[in-house]
Amino acid sequence: MKLIVTVLVVLATVFSGLIDGYDCKIVQFIFGDSLSDNGNNNRLSKSFAQAALPWYGIDFDNGMPNGRFTNGRTVADIIGDKTGLPRPPAFLDPSLSEDVILDNGVNFASGGGGILNETGGLFIQRFSLYKQIELFNGVQTLIRNKIGDEAATKFFQESKYVVALGSNDFINNYLMPVYSDSWTYNDDTFIDYLMETLGAQLTVLHGMGARQLMVFGLGPMGCIPLQRVLSSSGECQEKTNTLALNFNKATAKLMDDLSAKLPNASYKFGDAYDVVNNVITNPSKYGFDNADSPCCSFGRIRPALTCVPASRLCKDRSKYLFWDEYHPSDHANEMIADELIRKLGFTPINQTDGAPPSPPNAPAPGDD
Ligand SMILES: *[C@@H]1O[C@H](CO)[C@@H](O)[C@H](O)[C@H]1NC(C)=O
Ligand SMILES: *[C@@H]1O[C@H](CO)[C@@H](O)[C@H](O)[C@H]1NC(C)=O
Ligand SMILES: *[C@@H]1O[C@H](CO)[C@@H](O)[C@H](O)[C@H]1NC(C)=O
Repeated sequence: MKLIVTVLVVLATVFSGLIDGYDCKIVQFIFGDSLSDNGNNNRLSKSFAQAALPWYGIDFDNGMPNGRFTNGRTVADIIGDKTGLPRPPAFLDPSLSEDVILDNGVNFASGGGGILNETGGLFIQRFSLYKQIELFNGVQTLIRNKIGDEAATKFFQESKYVVALGSNDFINNYLMPVYSDSWTYNDDTFIDYLMETLGAQLTVLHGMGARQLMVFGLGPMGCIPLQRVLSSSGECQEKTNTLALNFNKATAKLMDDLSAKLPNASYKFGDAYDVVNNVITNPSKYGFDNADSPCCSFGRIRPALTCVPASRLCKDRSKYLFWDEYHPSDHANEMIADELIRKLGFTPINQTDGAPPSPPNAPAPGDD
């Protein structure tokens, strides 16, 4: 009898030791739109924003569509790869389980989604940022039940958070007269409204444990092919670009404010507006042939909102800035990721040697 009790005590001690020291990996939780979606919308059967047909994914793995709205990798894929973080599966991926989440994180990004609930309503189904946070709440409950409160709190506080939305709030909301926000707000009050909403959302995420968080800014979205076809000359829409610049400025300030206000928060902002704009101004200088039209397009019928099997592809996909009317190519995404890594001062994480990860604020090697 005594022996059994002793064994039980030893077992209990070992077990609680395991839980206390639960050696969680550092993983990412991604909140975003089609620029980061890696399969969620393909499983929303009523969504009109899907990358479910060829030639999406042609330069990724086996070349079949995988839900990414580009020919290859997203910016989030590339940043994760270059900093040693696993690629999180889509929230709706059927393989998602507690173990998969603990090892890889989760990607909640959804094409057509925005900061605002009402954004992208024309796509019928998409996860807005609030919805994505609600889904993350469900994930937290799963993990707490699996590894206990204390270990889960540590896990979520050590994770990395990416929030990359905003372009749909303009392109598929404010700039489209079918949405009431377009006549309710002006340029300034609309950005105020976005900041108020985003600030509240990021505060909720902080309450759920997010400490290391970065928000990606917008590119020159007035120069996406879809915006250029609005004018007969095919020029960039300067008004739209100005909105992107103002959004970026306001978001950078919001991150400073939140980092000062929320305990232990390191909330950072990074954008690649300038590097993309440089390519648009002078494509050949940066190794591109074309910076104004989509690689995948439906002949002269433009804009064709998605790339479809009947579309024609450009000859060299690595020479086009844009993959479709809206989304950058894999090559462009790599350039954008490199710029964000540089601006945000990422240091690679080596999770194979069991050493503690590098401090989040350490400058990148060679950074000055
Ligand atoms: C936005 O949607 C969420 C549910 O996803 C809801 O809880 C919230 O109240 C909505 N916010 C507004 C301002 O409509
Ligand atoms: C902030 O970090 C300190 C030191 O790691 C910790 O003791 C404290 O609980 C943290 N506070 C919050 C709100 O995360
Ligand atoms: C990570 O650490 C392991 C073990 O120390 C080492 O073999 C490996 O080369 C490291 N990887 C990187 C990218 O530094």
